[in-house]
Amino acid sequence: AAGAELRDLLISRIRDVQDYPQPGVVFKDITPLLADPVAFSALVDALAELCRKHAATKVVGLEARGFILAAPAAARAHLGFVPVRKAGKLPGPTLAQGYDLEYGSAEIEVHADAFGPGDRVIIIDDVLATGGTAEAALDLIRRTGASVVGVSVLLELGFLAGRERLAPQLKGAPLDAL
Ligand code: PRP
Repeated sequence: AAGAELRDLLISRIRDVQDYPQPGVVFKDITPLLADPVAFSALVDALAELCRKHAATKVVGLEARGFILAAPAAARAHLGFVPVRKAGKLPGPTLAQGYDLEYGSAEIEVHADAFGPGDRVIIIDDVLATGGTAEAALDLIRRTGASVVGVSVLLELGFLAGRERLAPQLKGAPLDAL
C-alpha cells in the first residue's frame, strides 16, 4: 500500500473513543490497527521506509505506544532500537528531560551511552498531539550528541498545532505523519 491507499487503510483502523481519558476529549485508539495484520504490517513497512529515506542509523521509540511501532520498524530496516522511557525505568546512567503533555506533565529519559558519534536518529511515535513529547525527545537526543534526522508518527492531530510548536526544534528535520 502506498500514498492515499495506505492513508485510507490506516485511518479506517483507528477508532474514536468519546470522552476518554476525560470528558470532551476524543481519544484515537490504535488497537484495531495493531490487531489487523495487513494494516499493521503496512504501517511498519512505511515506517521502515522512512528510516531508510532519512538514512537513519538508530530508531528511537517513545514509551509506551511508540515502542509498539518503532521496534518492528527498526528490525525491518535492520537498525538498532533505543527506548526513550518515562523517568525511573532505565537501569543505566541516563539523561532526563521534563515536558508538558496534553493531560499533565512528565519526564523522559534515555541511556546516556545509547548513541555513538555520527548516529542519525529517527524518532517514532504513534501520535503527535501538542508536540510536547516529541519536543522533549528532540532536546533529549541532541543532548547525547546524536543528530535527529526525522520525527515520524502514525497520526497527527492537526488542530492541536503540534507541527507548528515543533518547527523551531526540528531545525529542518522532516516531520512525517502517515
Ligand atoms: C501519548 C502519545 C504520544 C504523546 C503525544 O503518549 O503516545 O507519545 O502522548 O502527545 P503530545 O504531542 O501532546 O506530547 P502518553 O504520554 O499518553 O504515553 P503512553 O504512550 O504511555 O500512553
